[in-house]
Amino acid sequence: MQPTKKAPKVAGTTGGQIAVHWKEEKYYKPSGAFIAQANLTDPAVNKRFAEKNFPDCFIEYADMLTWSKRWKSVLDTNAPPFWKWFVGGKLNASYNCVDRHLTKYKNKAALICVPEPEDEEPVTVTYQELYVRVNEFAALLHDFGGLKKGDRVTIHMPMIAELPVTMLACARLGVVHSVVFGGFSGEACGMRAADSRSNVLIYADGYHRSGKMMDHKAAAEIAVATAEKEGQTIDKVLVWRRYPGKYCSAAPMVSGRDFFVDEIIGNYRGKHVDPVPMDSEAPLFLMYTSGTTGKPKGCQHRTGGYLAYVTGTSKYIQDIHPEDVYWCMADIGWITGHSYIVYGPLALGATSVIYEGTPTYPDAGRVWRIAERLDVNIFHTSPTAIRMLRKAGPEEPKKYHYHFKHMTTVGEPIEPEVWKWYYHVVGKEAAVIVDTYWQTENGGFLCSTKPALDSMKPGSAGPGVPGIYPIILDEQGKELPAGTAFAGNICIKNPWPGILQTVWGDDERFVRQYYSKYCKNPKSKDWHDWPYFAADGAMLAADGYFRILGRVDDVINVAGHRLGTKELESACLTMIEVAEAAVVPVVDDIKGRVPEIYISLKPAFAPAKEIEDKVIATIEKMIGKIARPRKVWIVPDMPKTRSGKIMRRVLAAISNTMDTGDTTTLANPDIVEEIRQHVQGKQKVKTQEGPEDLKQFGKEE
Ligand code: WTA
Repeated sequence: MQPTKKAPKVAGTTGGQIAVHWKEEKYYKPSGAFIAQANLTDPAVNKRFAEKNFPDCFIEYADMLTWSKRWKSVLDTNAPPFWKWFVGGKLNASYNCVDRHLTKYKNKAALICVPEPEDEEPVTVTYQELYVRVNEFAALLHDFGGLKKGDRVTIHMPMIAELPVTMLACARLGVVHSVVFGGFSGEACGMRAADSRSNVLIYADGYHRSGKMMDHKAAAEIAVATAEKEGQTIDKVLVWRRYPGKYCSAAPMVSGRDFFVDEIIGNYRGKHVDPVPMDSEAPLFLMYTSGTTGKPKGCQHRTGGYLAYVTGTSKYIQDIHPEDVYWCMADIGWITGHSYIVYGPLALGATSVIYEGTPTYPDAGRVWRIAERLDVNIFHTSPTAIRMLRKAGPEEPKKYHYHFKHMTTVGEPIEPEVWKWYYHVVGKEAAVIVDTYWQTENGGFLCSTKPALDSMKPGSAGPGVPGIYPIILDEQGKELPAGTAFAGNICIKNPWPGILQTVWGDDERFVRQYYSKYCKNPKSKDWHDWPYFAADGAMLAADGYFRILGRVDDVINVAGHRLGTKELESACLTMIEVAEAAVVPVVDDIKGRVPEIYISLKPAFAPAKEIEDKVIATIEKMIGKIARPRKVWIVPDMPKTRSGKIMRRVLAAISNTMDTGDTTTLANPDIVEEIRQHVQGKQKVKTQEGPEDLKQFGKEE
């Protein structure tokens, strides 16, 4: 189908509809060479996964796995929106990612781990080696850690081979893992450990990052203390050493609580642990993510549906074959790493590359050198990384002889300009690109082009992937047709196997967050009455491609990582000096959005640079460096409605030099100009229109 020639006309905002300017981009076609080797080339997939074949279409994915007991029913909708998938089936995720490959691929690389220091050789872990290491560590977790099926364990580790080994060892035992991103603080880890009621923490002592050895074990002390404060005792901290025998942290080991894995693993040499056959619906892992309240929520993912979904989408959308060398540059501590570094690729018997360090260390050619040396042919990263690499070395990819057949972008909207650099320079006009839209809650992709079947369109994620039926609803719940100039909320009409089961320990929050907005009949047992609300603004072009505009809730997407504004505000309010805090997103060339913080002080305190610095230090300590605000503005008062609500919308407009709109109805309209001058200077600055998500930010307040 041809793109519409004209940009959609811009209409006024009526009845909750959002008008959007959008220039249509031209299509790019996958190459013949890509199509000739692709996994999914039959257009009949659209029919197979059409609504009339739902939910049985997903048997195609479940059949990619090895089950110890086949399911009785594909989908159980008896207790909406708590869907059950492949009910009655039993399987083990570790068996599917490791054991079953041994007959054919025993000697093939499962993982290739690239250390950041370039003088350290990449380490290859074959499937056989992975099998041995997973078994030995599972035996240790069971016998020494006292862990058994259904227990939770919190893992706070960097990008080293021991992280997937640990996850797969947990899965082998049926222990629910909760991996916390290595860059998060000890506090953040402790809060999550307490929420999931873990009594064992798994750490690494340190890792290389940007040329420095990071002291990671230091965070464990804080994690244990934080968990304790929250009522959860940590009995054991198991510490993997980056260099066995050599401790890379200044933090003391606490006797009887902290143990070096390399000192005890020898007791489990050659041990085999039978993979525990798990109910299809048994939780496989928790992944905490930010939402609209101060506390991150634990997205609980099921074993059978999740594994089937990530395996199917890895095969069809990522086009992974066992022969491929696949490199996803995300961190395993995020959902992308769980689904598309560990579970999906390994279930397919692929070779998955894990890189420890910073993409631009020691220089802008590092990523392309790794790709060349390992002969990576599938590359997967985020718009932030692409922008960063483009800025650091726009011509670098040309210097290296790697050959990508397929590239992915994920996590944020990608600007067409950046997309084109990715296509022409990084992909050398030979690789297809899939722009994959999805969330922590979703397990796997929601929207993307099918790489050999659909044309690419820069800046658009594409249609729903097989078996996903997305729609755009306006505020009243009316469906917006394709090709209008209006944006609305993207929702998924149907359940799918990868969706979270619930929010750990909080069913009510699960229903409220994702379903109450659009469910018209809470008594209905028909899934059609339960559209999933993703909290993203989006629009649907005439060709059926979705364009994602960004979050419509209190979440800021910083470099593809979700931060809750409320989480940051709660951190500020722990400071004795702070009376009120408001966090707003600001446009950033590299990271997409970054937070800026406005605070007002209690009467006893005067504005001071020290207080600004303390806000930054507090955020880094309580959440992590990724949440570091670009600026802290100390203001005499916040702009407020007459009912006393802080108008974040006005602050966001000031930070982004956008029009503040009508402020006459505020309780204190004069403060707006005072804050504007404080932030922008005395001179009136010309306002700009700003991106869609910022135009919508805080509208509901
Ligand atoms: C955003 C990451 C535009 C979106 C897998 C979503 C995207 C949030 C895209 C989820 C994309 C993700 N285009 N925006 N291709 N992919 N997003 O939970 O706002 O870390 O709600 O999952 O990232 O982030 P999360």
